[in-house]
Amino acid sequence: MAFVALYVLLLSGEHADAFVCDQVSACIPVLRLARIRKKVLFYCHFPDQLLTKRESFLKRIYRLPLDWLEEFTTGMADCIVVNSKFTASVFKDTFKSLSHISPDVLYPSLNISSFETIVPADIADLIPKKKKFLFLSINRYERKKNLSLALEALHELRGRLDSHEWNEVHLVMAGGYDERVLENVEHYEELRSLATKLKVNDHVTFLRSFSDEQKISLFSNSVCVLYTPSNEHFGIVPLEAMYMRCPVIAVNSGGPLESVLHNVTGFLCDPLPTQFSEAMEKIVRDPLLKDTMGAAGRDRVMEKFSSEAFAEQLYQYICRLTQ
Ligand SMILES: *[C@@H]1O[C@H](CO)[C@@H](O)[C@H](O)[C@H]1NC(C)=O
Ligand SMILES: *[C@@H]1O[C@H](CO)[C@@H](O)[C@H](O)[C@H]1NC(C)=O
Ligand SMILES: *[C@@H]1O[C@H](CO)[C@@H](O)[C@H](O)[C@H]1NC(C)=O
Repeated sequence: MAFVALYVLLLSGEHADAFVCDQVSACIPVLRLARIRKKVLFYCHFPDQLLTKRESFLKRIYRLPLDWLEEFTTGMADCIVVNSKFTASVFKDTFKSLSHISPDVLYPSLNISSFETIVPADIADLIPKKKKFLFLSINRYERKKNLSLALEALHELRGRLDSHEWNEVHLVMAGGYDERVLENVEHYEELRSLATKLKVNDHVTFLRSFSDEQKISLFSNSVCVLYTPSNEHFGIVPLEAMYMRCPVIAVNSGGPLESVLHNVTGFLCDPLPTQFSEAMEKIVRDPLLKDTMGAAGRDRVMEKFSSEAFAEQLYQYICRLTQ
């Protein structure tokens, strides 16, 4: 990063009004070497030091200078933006020496044109026939994503419905999966056995590493998206779902608090199967809800999370820096 920053500096440093540095702050000191000092805007997605484990003493020692460097170089930016109010609060708790800084929020955006150009795949062979209520969960097969919550909620939903309604319900658990990652492999098996234990396995399709074409089809055919992680930094799936006119049932912490509007574009719940299944029942019982919440979701994404909204906001921050 530092080398690339130096390259950029030498190549175009003279002509730039400001530098935008994304995610890795270590190159900021290099950018500040410009002969005529340029402003630097840093986009912090999440403090890097919270994303690594410190299981051994050695690892802790090893991280000590890196963590210090992250905090020190982050503090050298002229303007710091983060991807959510949630990350802003984590930022303040993590970088103690920067407590005088209140980062601004710049929400990530959805590349809508990429959604419009994809040709949906045929997914008829993935889902049993005559399923009127398709629920969809999209997330990597990682334990911290709390995917078991979706299965447990499905199990509770069964108790809320009569057998005819239940027969029309199906859940697709779609997730990024890499067979070289032990956690993915193990967790996939854990979820499969949980589905069997809860006796909902006939009503669940597990999908690993789906294509973009399949994803679009899944969104188009679903009545609702379940988003189970707690304290998610931002979460792009709720945006994708809302853009595709799917109501979102998400946990009431982290990014979804800012992306999903409770009772308007979906439901925000405690991470409990009872609350999730209650919201799912509403979707099943009120066929109009999908359409009204879906339309509200599309509007919300266009207004707050489109590329245009992102560009406009970023432009404002840059103007404020350089004027
Ligand atoms: C958005 O997606 C379109 C189509 O896939 C692509 O051509 C374009 O480069 C993407 N834009 C951004 C900013 O990634
Ligand atoms: C994950 O979901 C379970 C219910 O399935 C819940 O008890 C637990 O608190 C959730 N974990 C987090 C971190 O929210
Ligand atoms: C949710 O929305 C419905 C329909 O607009 C409304 O009747 C209900 O009172 C709302 N509930 C809450 C908790 O806002």
